[in-house]
Formats: sequence, structure tokens, C-alpha cells
Amino acid sequence: MRKPRIGSLEHRDLFCRTFIETHRVFEPENLPWPRLEARYVELLRAFPFWSFARSMEQEADRMIATFAKTLTDPVIREAVELQGYEEGRHGRLLNHMLERYEIDVPDVPLTNLPVTREDFVVFGFSECLDSVVGFGGFALAREKQIFPKGLLDIFEHILFEEARHIVFFINWWRYEEELAGRTNPVARLLATLQYHVRAGMHQAQGAQGAAVVPAPIDLTGGGSQAILEGVSPKMFLEVALAEERAMMSRIDPRLLRPRLVPVLATVALLGLRLLPPRAETPKRSLAVAS
Ligand SMILES: [Fe+2]
Ligand SMILES: [Fe+2]
Repeated sequence: MRKPRIGSLEHRDLFCRTFIETHRVFEPENLPWPRLEARYVELLRAFPFWSFARSMEQEADRMIATFAKTLTDPVIREAVELQGYEEGRHGRLLNHMLERYEIDVPDVPLTNLPVTREDFVVFGFSECLDSVVGFGGFALAREKQIFPKGLLDIFEHILFEEARHIVFFINWWRYEEELAGRTNPVARLLATLQYHVRAGMHQAQGAQGAAVVPAPIDLTGGGSQAILEGVSPKMFLEVALAEERAMMSRIDPRLLRPRLVPVLATVALLGLRLLPPRAETPKRSLAVAS
């Protein structure tokens, strides 16, 4: 299959059409939610980030819908509107899950800040960053079978939607960069690095803000511990990268993929493999899906 030239109309049509055509129609309450034994509900309840995750999705819905209104290209606007809809549905899905399993978490008041194009770009790069962590956390949960398959299948679909979002985003960003004449690969790499740093800071601030009630968010405790118990950084990176490849293999190969986080994770993994076995100590890290 021939890859379209980045920045061409053929490229625009491909990344927008692929995104729109792979959208799945469903309502969260109609999904096949499994009945959960009390121990699984307790484990779900023990995850510290539901409040934060739900508010992130709701904020994203509002921000993207507002940004979409500023777009003049009707093909891109349709795809961006659809992404906003999917983020809003993620928020509703989390809400439904929390209600269904009677998990009470505090509501985080939504902001009403003005939206700029830059907000959409920083959000896109933060999804590139979070997704790899989310893929790793999910793959470990599946490997360890810490939840019934029915629930993991629902989570898997959400993660696939996030994989679609980051592929759409990186193609849109590159398309716009081309149109603006910013074609220097070194300058682009520096810009990408800078955006990832901003995205990381933005996420950290969001986590702190969401954790005002009742206490600072502890991403290493509770349910995350069940996933990460006995998992070394090396193991985490291996499963995260394998899951990332599996997710990406389901998306049209002619499209660009976000590369920076997988490359950095691969470099870190190669570094860890060079360490003597005893120097590598199992360590907990976070597992959050946006
Ligand atoms: Fe989302
Ligand atoms: Fe997303």
C-alpha cells in the first residue's frame, strides 16, 4: 500500500477517514458489563485515580468540542468533533462503571477556561505519553488476570480508542506542520520533546488539582499495587512496548505513529538490560489510562 505524502489532501483524507470509519457506535450502559464478585469491586475501588481520570475525560470533551468549532476544514472538523464525542463517552463510561459497581469517588468541578489550538496540541502529546503507560498497566492486568475477562475487554476497547486518538493526532499535527512549512526534522524533534515536557507538567498539575479532595493522589497504592507488585521497570517497559505494538498493528499502516515515547522507552529498556541482574530492583510506578 502506497503511503500518501505528508501534508497532501490524500494524507488528510486518509487520517480523517480512518479515524471516522473505525469509530464504534455504543452506549456505555449497553456494554456487556460482567457481574463482579465483591473482591473485584474492592480492587476497582482501590484504584486511586477514578476521579482524576473521569474529570480528564470530561475536560477533554469540552476542550475538543470548543476547538473543533474553530476549524475551517470540514473533513478535519468532523474527525475532531468525533474525538471530542469519544472523550465525553469515556467520561460517561467511567461514570457508569462507578455507579454500577457502587464506587463512590469525589466529583471534580470542571473548568470553564478559554480554549486555544495550543491546548489541543498539548493534550494530544499528553495522550501520546499516557497511552504507553496505560497500555503497560492494562497488559499487566490482563497477564495477571486481576479482573474478569468481560471487564478487561471493555478496558481494552477504551485503550484502542486512545490508540486511534494518538494516531489521528500525530498525523493531524504533522499535516499542519507541513502546511505551515515547518519541515525541518531536527526542529520538529525539538518541538516534540518540548511538547512532551509540557504535557507531562500539565498532567502532573491536573493530578494535583484533581486530588484536592480528599488527599494528594497516590498512584502507587491500592489497585495499582495489585498490577505492579513484583513487576520490575524492565518488565513494565517490555509489556508496555509489546502492547503498544499490538495496538498500533490494528491501525492502517500507511499512517504515521507517535514515535518519541516508544523510542525513549526502548532506549530505557536497552539500558536496563545492560545492568547486572541484581541492580534492577522491582519498583512501583503509575498505571493510568486517559
Ligand atoms: Fe479518553
Ligand atoms: Fe483520547
